[in-house]
Amino acid sequence: MNLSQTIHGISFTNPTVLAAGMMGITASGWKDVARHGAGGITTKSMWIKEHKGHPNPVVISTPYWSINAVGLPYAGFDVAKEEVGSYMKDHPVPLIANIVAESVEAFAETAAKMVTLKPDFLEVNISCPNVEDEFGRPFACSPSDAAAVTRAVKAVSGTIPVFIKLSPNVDNIKVIAAACAEAGANGITAINTVGPGMAIDLRSRLPILANKVGGMSGRGIKPLAVRCVADIYAATEGKLPIIGLGGIATGEDALEMMMAGASLVGIGTAIWERGLDVFRDVSKEMQMWCTTEGVGEISELVGSMHKEVLISTKH
Ligand code: FUM
Repeated sequence: MNLSQTIHGISFTNPTVLAAGMMGITASGWKDVARHGAGGITTKSMWIKEHKGHPNPVVISTPYWSINAVGLPYAGFDVAKEEVGSYMKDHPVPLIANIVAESVEAFAETAAKMVTLKPDFLEVNISCPNVEDEFGRPFACSPSDAAAVTRAVKAVSGTIPVFIKLSPNVDNIKVIAAACAEAGANGITAINTVGPGMAIDLRSRLPILANKVGGMSGRGIKPLAVRCVADIYAATEGKLPIIGLGGIATGEDALEMMMAGASLVGIGTAIWERGLDVFRDVSKEMQMWCTTEGVGEISELVGSMHKEVLISTKH
């Protein structure tokens, strides 16, 4: 049974990838995640200038959901150069460099610098719900803003494929995905966190997070993520690879996400629940299911829900 996937000529030994923001700061951390079976690594969102995040507490986690408002802290391009540069020297699995910026122009400048580090893909974070007070509504909330960032990054990215990371917190994700595709995106990552949400401490009667609100992730958001990925696959007619994420914790979750249209699946919050072995374990669970069901190539499953719906509606 073959779990490997080739996306824009880049080979992944299995479809699991580390989601942005989790363990994603240093080359040695990324290599450790690869040793635990991840098929690919996404870095933390990287700015070219230092950006301070929110004060603590920044995360609340329960078995059903997590809320985070880390606020996209990053030390700047010198650190990216050192860590991405060091990882890319002998990279055990492909690296997806996630970038963030405050304006269309700054996205272009950031992308132009990051491509000099030669990551396998760029992932463009236009969808963080936790920095609205600082930067306003995320670019992912408007088709024209999302397209403008896509065009600006594509203009400087050369041969490095560009994935645009979308938000579920929009009226119609299909329109946004279609606008990114039209603007030249090579792939879509979906979804970023949901909400924002809030949790209140009963004793103090105050919001637990210092930022008061934060993006929700974890098992509870999976149905929303699966629907968004299915919508994006339909809107882009299955022509763009999708990195699907949001609540993936088991092999069955990953298979469901692939049937909705994802070629790769991101794992983040589940690391808290299942440890770093989650990557190897999810792959094993996918493999067992495929062997039982007689699926020889994992790629056969990508978007298979859409074909089944077509067949079932013809009868
Ligand atoms: O708060 C954060 O750092 C979250 C980032 C994101 O969701 O993109």
